[in-house]
Amino acid sequence: MKITVNGRSHDVDVPAEMPLLWVLRDELQITGVKYGCGIAQCGACTVHVDGEAVRSCQIAIGDLEGDVTTIEGLGTPDALHMVQEAWIEHQVAQCGYCQSGQMMQAASLLSDNPTPSDEDIDGAMSGNLCRCGTYPRIRAAIKSAAAKLEG
Ligand code: FES
Ligand code: FES
Repeated sequence: MKITVNGRSHDVDVPAEMPLLWVLRDELQITGVKYGCGIAQCGACTVHVDGEAVRSCQIAIGDLEGDVTTIEGLGTPDALHMVQEAWIEHQVAQCGYCQSGQMMQAASLLSDNPTPSDEDIDGAMSGNLCRCGTYPRIRAAIKSAAAKLEG
């Protein structure tokens, strides 16, 4: 089976029903994407497929249609994505476990809606849980990224 991740094409020999999450982590060693619940309830496994935020624990590799982007491909160390910059500026992470999923969700929100209201942010981010309670900093970082986009 062929899969394109962060602009690179891979051939993987796995069962069609294997969730994308495990193909990324176990077959391709792309470990920025995290396992939290496995049942679409936490958002830790969020990646982009053709730019849309999806729960990689819920997509069987055989059903995958589109190119995958993970946190490793969102920006580069020399050219961070605006969301990654805002996350650093606001020192959002605590333990960090949920944060790649949070950033992938936020990046997708801003690409669909560059000027989100508080309600838009809460609505888009409500499926991404953070046990460390970094929600106020997540909101602030998204607003700051949005303000930069507007500027
Ligand atoms: S691991 Fe996929 S939503 Fe929790
Ligand atoms: S930073 Fe620890 S779970 Fe979100």
